[in-house]
Amino acid sequence: MSRKATVSAPSNIAFIKYWGARDLDRAIPTNASLSMTLDICRTTTTVEVLDEAGADAIQIKSDDGALTPAAGAFNERFTAHLGRLREHLGFTGRIQAATHNTFPSDAGIASSASGFTALAYAVSAAFDRVDSPEEMSIRARLSGSGSAARSTFGGYVTWPSDPHNPESPAAQHAGPHIDLRDVIALVQHGPKDVSSLEGHRRAATSPHFATRQERLPERTRRVSAALTSGDFAAFTEALEEEAIELHLVAMSSTPPILYWEPGTLEVIHRVRQLRTRDGVPCAFTMDAGANVHVICPPTSEDAVAAAVSDLPSVHGVIRDRVGSGPRHETEHLF
Ligand code: PMV
Repeated sequence: MSRKATVSAPSNIAFIKYWGARDLDRAIPTNASLSMTLDICRTTTTVEVLDEAGADAIQIKSDDGALTPAAGAFNERFTAHLGRLREHLGFTGRIQAATHNTFPSDAGIASSASGFTALAYAVSAAFDRVDSPEEMSIRARLSGSGSAARSTFGGYVTWPSDPHNPESPAAQHAGPHIDLRDVIALVQHGPKDVSSLEGHRRAATSPHFATRQERLPERTRRVSAALTSGDFAAFTEALEEEAIELHLVAMSSTPPILYWEPGTLEVIHRVRQLRTRDGVPCAFTMDAGANVHVICPPTSEDAVAAAVSDLPSVHGVIRDRVGSGPRHETEHLF
């Protein structure tokens, strides 16, 4: 007997970022974070559970439809999480899975949030289980990718850090909210040199890490208030402060991590110019990578996309928006 299910789950972009862990193996964060769930950047995963003995098999589906066996670190992390999910469900058979990203997988866009969320949901769906987003937030996070905890909800999402309740799931940020767009300027070719997992491990070695922890609650309140009030100038100030500080911590860790490429700075300067010279509201942020996410109101989206597309170091632009979370798909990947 076999059961098959397919789910797609979104990636997210953090406005206040998870960087550093109390317990890295369980992805228990040192600080709370706040993100926007995306719509276009997603991972689709099909899972088939088979009541037979044998090894699991994971494949990656490319845009042209070809299926290739997963390899290396990706295969290890994916298989390990599949093992945890199987154990949780008390299943002893084997699982086949295939996964596909809507965004270029070698473009340096973090796919762990969408990937592990889609996997957790697809396994549940193959067993006809309907678990709450809170439960799924915890299960996706146990993959080791903390940002996956936030991809189980749509809209704007907070993920607390409470030493007395370390397993707390993420939750939807209470609205009403302004609408925002994320114009992603791709400047990175290929995967980054240092994984975010390694970045979390090194974070506390930075002399700026402790100061960051002190400043974060106040900055989080500013971002949170601006999402409701629509004060985009206040949002911009807090968002960019946060993006630069994350990279300051990374650059001053032991050993230092430099995620930025020349293109990162080119986009940052263009965004500041657009805002101050051309009067286009927009603000930059970066995750643990070189690509720049330009967050803006819907009325700025066309101008931002046109301006960053023209830059020599930008090899692609993805125009994304606030999304609504994971969803079941009727078309399977295999
Ligand atoms: O979820 P991880 O372990 O890949 O870490 C995410 C790190 C950042 O993307 C830099 C920040 C965040 O909160 O998404």
